Amino acid sequence: QPARAVDLVEEESGAPGEEQRRWEEARLGAASLKFGARDAASQEPKYQLVLEEEETIEFVCATQLQGDEEPSAPPPSAQAQQRESIQAVRRSLPVFPFREELLAAIANHQVLIIEGETGSGKTTQIPQYLFEEGYTKKGMKIACTQPRRVAAMSVAARVAREMGVKLGNEVGYSIRFEDCTSERTVLRYMTDGMLLREFLSEPDLASYSVVMVDEAHERTLHTDILFGLIKDVARFRPELKVLVASATLDTARFSTFFDDAPVFRIPGRRFPVDIFYTKAPEADYLEACVVSVLQIHVTQPPGDILVFLTGQEEIEAACEMLQDRCRRLGSKIRELLVLPIYANLPSDMQARIFQPTPPGARKVVVATNIAETSLTIEGIIYVLDPGFCKQKSYNPRTGMESLTVTPCSKASANQRAGRAGRVAAGKCFRLYTAWAYQHELEETTVPEIQRTSLGNVVLLLKSLGIHDLMHFDFLDPPPYETLLLALEQLYALGALNHLGELTTSGRKMAELPVDPMLSKMILASEKYSCSEEILTVAAMLSVNNSIFYRPKDKVVHADNARVNFFLPGGDHLVLLNVYTQWAESGYSSQWCYENFVQFRSMRRARDVREQLEGLLERVEVGLSSCQGDYIRVRKAITAGYFYHTARLTRSGYRTVKQQQTVFVHPNSSLFEQQPRWLLYHELVLTTKEFMRQVLEIESSWLLEVAPHYYKAKELEDPHAKKMPKKIGKTREELG
Ligand code: CDP
Ligand code: MG
Repeated sequence: QPARAVDLVEEESGAPGEEQRRWEEARLGAASLKFGARDAASQEPKYQLVLEEEETIEFVCATQLQGDEEPSAPPPSAQAQQRESIQAVRRSLPVFPFREELLAAIANHQVLIIEGETGSGKTTQIPQYLFEEGYTKKGMKIACTQPRRVAAMSVAARVAREMGVKLGNEVGYSIRFEDCTSERTVLRYMTDGMLLREFLSEPDLASYSVVMVDEAHERTLHTDILFGLIKDVARFRPELKVLVASATLDTARFSTFFDDAPVFRIPGRRFPVDIFYTKAPEADYLEACVVSVLQIHVTQPPGDILVFLTGQEEIEAACEMLQDRCRRLGSKIRELLVLPIYANLPSDMQARIFQPTPPGARKVVVATNIAETSLTIEGIIYVLDPGFCKQKSYNPRTGMESLTVTPCSKASANQRAGRAGRVAAGKCFRLYTAWAYQHELEETTVPEIQRTSLGNVVLLLKSLGIHDLMHFDFLDPPPYETLLLALEQLYALGALNHLGELTTSGRKMAELPVDPMLSKMILASEKYSCSEEILTVAAMLSVNNSIFYRPKDKVVHADNARVNFFLPGGDHLVLLNVYTQWAESGYSSQWCYENFVQFRSMRRARDVREQLEGLLERVEVGLSSCQGDYIRVRKAITAGYFYHTARLTRSGYRTVKQQQTVFVHPNSSLFEQQPRWLLYHELVLTTKEFMRQVLEIESSWLLEVAPHYYKAKELEDPHAKKMPKKIGKTREELG
């Protein structure tokens, strides 16, 4: 067989090789496997898999053994053995041979850019080396930032294990609404957003000896802002060490930005990865994924599979479909362990993806692009890449932010493929055509700072006393209009005065670790005496979209349960209702189960609520309840979200200021009601521009909460009289 598929350009023109043909045959096979598993299996000798069935039996034995061992704690000798094997793993990582050289480079340079293939040990090892080298003497701390919550948590857990300490002692993590650190914590893994917030309490980061900005290539908004701030701090704190760690992308840019800081390259170990494309585009990539996983499972030699999907809902759907089909195939196929990983997955579930696959079985990890570079899972040989990711985009002209599923970039696709070649030669199956790769994918992903709203960050920078944002040291500047709009919005929210200076209310808003509109809503709850309810709404909004679940076999029951929570007024009140009833049940998991509510999400909402409640005093909001007067709750929400309003016109809903056409999300409690004025929490662009979490409001409230923003004239409705009465009247008018 010729050496193939390493060069992607050639791939397109080359005639399909033996492998490719087998792959395509297998595709057809698996497609029939999908519809009539038994028949396909009996006709196609390939699927009889006699050998594999024997292996299944072997596997059962292996799990039984494991099961017996687990309950009792390993004897001391086993513990020592375990520790020794952990150390052996540490020594086997690509970064290890460079330990001394790296430490010397860090000692000699204030800023060092570190480039290394994903999985080479940058995140887990370098902070430990620094710890061993004494960078945490005299209580100084080392920060290592991660763009993603899950990565911060899981990496901290791993490092704590490697160091033999309890998570939260010497090693800890800190992510929004969850602080797993203590006085003793010197190695702090944290989200980039959390380090940004550290600047509020410690503008010179005086308690840190080293700041490692990790996963710098991800170019998240917070990482980009950190660059500017850290560069500044480094100037007047010469003893502070700054490390910028990145996968093998873009490092020259970082070097230039940090005044030509040296780049330390950790040579990677990478096995060749064969790339396969589909012959024709796939219409339904979720379905295609499921089929392909089974196909890999039945036709390919051992090795785990990594699948890239775009988000929790998709991942859960894919996992369900996979499990379902495996169940139907029964003993015809070997055991397939289906494991999801996404941001909101509880940590015990997250840990499962790192556990070694039992012999004879195969693991398939279905992940968001968190597994692209932030997390390395051992044993992956096959990567399945549908070529999509969820991306935020922002239109500064309309002020609309939306989260859409878009094709990923070539750089992303190549990172994904690389994950197959870490332990041995691997294969990457792309669910798109070679032509699409060449012609339809962008080279790189646009940095987040250029496609997001900046309200949050501008508020933070203003509270750090950074006034002249136009001249802030950005690696890539945001669009001018986006900055301007952020300033305008903050002015409208009362966070800035007409000179662009932070107001008292703005200072308070910056104290709360949530978006400016949400902070404003919380502050406004003081005036409307409903902070208890508003805290709940805020907490529930922050665990958004994962409150209800809808198992396939109980769709009707689940939908009925959801409708039972509906309250007149809209989705925010529904969320409030769910939480209140859950609290009345004593925060019961049984209650959640009976009402098709996700217990995990609720538990998280409770955590968030507690944390926000703890901050109320700092922002001078007292605890109070509306006692059932939901108009007050709705007005407080409006005080924060008056920017996000839509009115019903003869041709459907349009946003009030920008006149954009928008639609009520079918899951909304107001889907069938069509109130004249609406407020929405967010817009999500799928097939249409959908408003998610909508609330019915009165136009007069807009004048009450934002007189500087709305003129009475623009809130008059020329069509009102011509509309049928039933639609034209609001709930309040109807009594
Ligand atoms: O940061 P980089 O991508 O260079 O590598 P790393 O995240 O430090 O990973 C080094 C090794 O630790 C890899 O072999 C991972 O599989 C392993 N690791 C793990 O087993 N569990 C984690 N939670 C994180 C990393
Ligand atoms: Mg890393």
